[in-house]
Amino acid sequence: MEVNDLSYVTGSDHKQIFDGVSLQIKPGEKVLLMAPSGWGKTTLLRLLLGLKRPKKGKILLNGKNVMGNWDAAHNYYSYVNQKPFMFDDTLRFNITLGRQVSDEQLKQVIHEAGLDELVKEQGLDKQVGENGSELSGGQIQRVEIARALLSGRPILLADEATSALDPKLSLDIHETLLKNPKVAVLEVAHKISPEEKAMFDVIIHLDKHTVETKM
Ligand SMILES: Nc1ncnc2c1ncn2[C@@H]1O[C@H](COP(=O)(O)OP(=O)(O)O)[C@@H](O)[C@H]1O
Ligand SMILES: [Mg+2]
Repeated sequence: MEVNDLSYVTGSDHKQIFDGVSLQIKPGEKVLLMAPSGWGKTTLLRLLLGLKRPKKGKILLNGKNVMGNWDAAHNYYSYVNQKPFMFDDTLRFNITLGRQVSDEQLKQVIHEAGLDELVKEQGLDKQVGENGSELSGGQIQRVEIARALLSGRPILLADEATSALDPKLSLDIHETLLKNPKVAVLEVAHKISPEEKAMFDVIIHLDKHTVETKM
């Protein structure tokens, strides 16, 4: 994916949200985008998904311009956000979302999302409760990651996915997410620990238009 000189202006009050954003992500690469709250990070992810059209700039996927084209763009991405939606149903349903998947596939994503222990102890038929009340915040985030991995889409977009979790959990989740060579990860955050930062290949400070190079 390649983004060139992207700017966004709101449709309603013509407010400039951001200007001149460029970035690229290669297969399996882990990219962190940093900017303060309210800068427009969530808006940027919505542009990538094709839900909104930028004022100017280009968004290319495999060399094809997909700007503002949800049909062409959305299949490339899975999405992990701060407050995953949980169904008052079984753990299995919440991971598969009702899709037909082989036991093999299911086992694989449970492992990759770090849910082995929960599944071993409580089983896949465990009822997660209303809004996942029977699970911890970290477990809910892992269910969301399992969903994303199961979708098989090449780029995972994470919108402040762990900012509501305690630092140790956030670190654990990042270790899970960022060691998986099969998916590229594009995470936006306004705050992140130095240990977590060190796990990314590229760190871009959107507000300063700078790329942090690694030593
Ligand atoms: N469609 C819109 N109309 C008006 N304002 C918008 C619209 N979309 C986003 N904004 C504004 O854009 C700014 C950036 O929002 P957001 O993308 O949620 O930032 P972040 O995720 O970095 O905190 C906010 O001030 C928000 O109110
Ligand atoms: Mg946001």
